[in-house]
Amino acid sequence: MKKTFLKSAMAILLTVLISSSAFAKQPYKKGILLVTFGSSYTETRVSFKNIEQEVKKAFPNIPIRWAYTAKKIRKKLERRGEKINSPAMALAEMAEEGFTHVAVQSLHIIPGFEYNALKQTVSAFNHMPKMLKRITLGTPLLFSHEDNEKLANAIKEVCADKLPKADAFVFMGHGTEHASNIYYAGFQYHLKQQSPKFIMGTVEGSPTLQDVLNEIENKKIKSIWLAPFMSVAGDHARNDMAGDEDDSWKIILQKKNIEVKPILRGLGEYDNIVTIWIEHLKIAVDELPKH
Ligand code: CO
Repeated sequence: MKKTFLKSAMAILLTVLISSSAFAKQPYKKGILLVTFGSSYTETRVSFKNIEQEVKKAFPNIPIRWAYTAKKIRKKLERRGEKINSPAMALAEMAEEGFTHVAVQSLHIIPGFEYNALKQTVSAFNHMPKMLKRITLGTPLLFSHEDNEKLANAIKEVCADKLPKADAFVFMGHGTEHASNIYYAGFQYHLKQQSPKFIMGTVEGSPTLQDVLNEIENKKIKSIWLAPFMSVAGDHARNDMAGDEDDSWKIILQKKNIEVKPILRGLGEYDNIVTIWIEHLKIAVDELPKH
């Protein structure tokens, strides 16, 4: 009699313990974290909104969160009352919210400093106890050889109607001191295969504006389209590219008697380009355990 009572008491205790939070297995919850350099220009939200919309379409049941890698931009937005997380803050917050598995997608263009720092953050969080169970990372827009071909193709599609209406189509990439700056010259090769009218330059790396000017002079180009080769048409596009100061690309080119038609749209505004980021995100989502 006593034994039976003890047994049932033990069984009840065990049931209580298992169902209590301390012993219960945390329910599986998958999330997506989109990570961009960021921008303080509200005009750039069209790019981010479009990317989010396309990601939602591809993964209708997975909640999406955002993070900016640029601290300067986050601080600037904070002063305006907008709170945007860094990747580390976002991952910690997601763990707190009950997410167990997160696919992070880099919305950077090339695997430079920003992407590599993000990779380190993801790796560090994968080794932290009592945090998320697994985090995977999707590569930036240009990573593999196939990415280069796909993007060159997508850009030709986007520019198809404009290409006949000018002698050249000049892109302004960001450029970097990181070894991955070679992606810009590499991608230019793929662009040229689509059309010899495509010319690639960068603000802070190579090819330089001088390289662009040399080609324009050699080919006796008189009229160009000018567009940012960045996810958004932010500060660089509005000032360094199409601004009215003496040192903007637009003004420098106009002073050489070249007709300049600026396009203030980021790569994130074109669905056929966003598709490439989403393909990378699909790989990251597939890498997560299913339960
Ligand atoms: Co910059």
